Amino acid sequence: MSTSTKLRVPHWRLELERDTMDAQKKNTPLAHESLIKLKRLYLQSVPAGSIVFDSLVPAGRVDWGYQDHLYNTILSKDATAYPPSGAYTRRFLKFLITSLEENLAEDEELHDSILTLYSDLMSSPDIVSDATRPTFITYLLPPIQSLSREETRVVISERKSVLSADGHTGARTWEAALALGEFFIVSPLPISKPIRECRVLELGAGTAFTSILLSKLGARYVLATDGDERVCENIHGNIFLNRNGDNMSVSRLLWGPCQENSTIYTNVWDLIIGGDITYDTRDISDLVYTLKKLLKANMGEGCKAIISATVRNESTLHEFDKELSTAGLSFEAREVGEPGRRLWYYESDTAIRIYTIYSS
Ligand SMILES: C[S@@+](CC[C@H](N)C(=O)[O-])C[C@H]1O[C@@H](n2cnc3c(N)ncnc32)[C@H](O)[C@@H]1O
Repeated sequence: MSTSTKLRVPHWRLELERDTMDAQKKNTPLAHESLIKLKRLYLQSVPAGSIVFDSLVPAGRVDWGYQDHLYNTILSKDATAYPPSGAYTRRFLKFLITSLEENLAEDEELHDSILTLYSDLMSSPDIVSDATRPTFITYLLPPIQSLSREETRVVISERKSVLSADGHTGARTWEAALALGEFFIVSPLPISKPIRECRVLELGAGTAFTSILLSKLGARYVLATDGDERVCENIHGNIFLNRNGDNMSVSRLLWGPCQENSTIYTNVWDLIIGGDITYDTRDISDLVYTLKKLLKANMGEGCKAIISATVRNESTLHEFDKELSTAGLSFEAREVGEPGRRLWYYESDTAIRIYTIYSS
């Protein structure tokens, strides 16, 4: 069975309430909401040329106090332990400084610390613009009561502009993973257990963004798997960056019968997840083999699979639908439109479909 409906999700404002409260405590009467948006964009290394800086700095009212707060909130060493690359920061500052300059209040000057940081970066010979190198990308989460301040971010070491390298596609976080993450933040869990009781298995985890997010959201246990050894090694690093070692681990799992004796198939799971793993028709029957084996074995637990798919090619997904039906799996598919893509920056507006799959 297949249905296609619009996924309705609440609107989240791109801000962190706690940061706002801190600012209020410090009596900083600033355009703080915009500053937090700027911080989100900076930490996610959003292409500086596509940020509308003029809409984020106070028009004609940039003074020393604002710049001081901006520096301390976004750019200083204390603002984040995992800043974007020097090359990105340099480019971000180039655009930011132009916008600050154009919006200076009367008799105000550009802030020393911001200018010094920019000139230091300009004169560092070791900073090269190599977008294929791994860098820290931080995805700030919205305010969630159960999370401590430290937990309100997922930090990923990734190669943002690398689509495919060394024979795999798991070097960067794909938009389907971001949409899957948003889905778990804004929608009720599609299974009858609360998150703290949920044992989660991710297939084709890549950077493991969604696994790390679910472990932060309080899942009982999360196992991120991927078929590629180097991708799995990188996941270990990402778990370390997020200090999520307690309820999360990594294992290599290739879909299909080749690893059918893996203990992953005999362990108990409540939720199977996957982002952007349906793009290659050559892998679809192996993927569906694995989904079927896992969902049938865990049917008694009410286990479901939530798979997000970027709709690059309708016929590939049609193949996936067909294989699921042939395997006797039930599924629903819902499109995530713009309202489901509010928490992070998405470079493209290609449709993303979220599948809920179960054995009945
Ligand atoms: C497009 S990436 C998506 C990564 C991540 N889920 C995301 O959305 O950011 C696909 C991932 O699936 C993994 N993969 C592809 N074919 C696989 C297979 N047959 N078995 C296991 N993993 C596979 C790749 O190594 C890669 O990490």
